[in-house]
Amino acid sequence: MDLDFVQLGDTGLQTSEIQFGTWRFGKETEEGNLEIDEPRAHELLDAYADHGGRFIDTADVYGGGTCEEWIGDWLADRDREAYTIASKIYWQIREGDPNSRGTNRKNVRHRIDALLDRLGTDYVDVLYIHRWDDETSAREMMKTLNGLVEDGRVHYLGTSTLVPNEWKVAKANQIAREEGWEPFTVAQPRYNLVDREIEGGYLDMADDYGLAVCPWSPLGQGFLTGKYSRDEGLTGESRAAESSRFREAYLTDENFDVLDELRTVADEVDATIAQTAIAYHMAHEGITAPIVGARTVDQLEENLGAAEVDLSAEQVERLREAKGGPYSDI
Ligand SMILES: NC(=O)c1ccc[n+]([C@@H]2O[C@H](COP(=O)([O-])OP(=O)(O)OC[C@H]3O[C@@H](n4cnc5c(N)ncnc54)[C@H](OP(=O)(O)O)[C@@H]3O)[C@@H](O)[C@H]2O)c1
Repeated sequence: MDLDFVQLGDTGLQTSEIQFGTWRFGKETEEGNLEIDEPRAHELLDAYADHGGRFIDTADVYGGGTCEEWIGDWLADRDREAYTIASKIYWQIREGDPNSRGTNRKNVRHRIDALLDRLGTDYVDVLYIHRWDDETSAREMMKTLNGLVEDGRVHYLGTSTLVPNEWKVAKANQIAREEGWEPFTVAQPRYNLVDREIEGGYLDMADDYGLAVCPWSPLGQGFLTGKYSRDEGLTGESRAAESSRFREAYLTDENFDVLDELRTVADEVDATIAQTAIAYHMAHEGITAPIVGARTVDQLEENLGAAEVDLSAEQVERLREAKGGPYSDI
């Protein structure tokens, strides 16, 4: 099974219908172990690429920078041009230094050089702002980001999260339009069958500005797989379940109702629960490509199998309705 290409919103770029997220590469657990170490990271990247996967999502803070270094080491033996690499900047990197956070010109210019160095490449295909910086004007941010596109270090600009403050993205894109600068063309919000906040104005905004929508946590950090049950809780292994915040947010009766419907639809289409949850994104008109995570190669290969699952309009509707609206038509 090989992944297909999809158009990245209104850009001219074709890229993978399922993107691979590397958030857990080099991430330390509370016991001081790594959730995913370098050999495992490279196995996962190999498996993704072997199935035709070409879109790798990272951020400059993942693993404190080691995630990008490991991707860079892996890319060094590959044809870099064949891959779409997205990274993100925003979070503070030096204690006590407010300029080392956000989208002020000094920080953006420093961060892009540092991340390109770690990735061992001259450019990233997409540079996201990881969060919105209220201390820097939209004009300063867009002018600085436009400079990175003009000098070739960045191909496209992306914006992450920001629900329900999507008006800020609209404002920034309006400034860019008026000035002839590069606007945001890619959006990366959280979205999955139990986290539905983008179904209000966010998807409408993205549609209006022609933004590609590439959601993170399409599996609700593993909740929308077969390993949680209403009666027994976690029945397999999970890093997310170690967090009380995750347990309180996800292990609710309302969410287990969604999981019940997901299980029913999965049986109907002869797919796994995780595949069906991902296939839902692929059937959704307003979604470009989900960013899927995996801790093991088995999980990743299962997840990529979603590309072969077709859901009917009626099944998509039932999945949507399993957790009450509001949801948009897009
Ligand atoms: N922009 C942002 O602010 C932001 C925020 C979060 C994530 N992201 C991006 O989005 C990517 C994906 O996010 P995510 O990791 O939350 O995505 P996810 O796909 O919802 O969850 C991935 C996790 O679910 C579990 N899992 C995956 N496949 C499974 C399977 N087949 N069976 C059982 N368990 C499975 C694994 O954890 P366990 O095995 O430990 O349960 C895995 O680490 C990240 O890597 C990152 O690139 C961006």
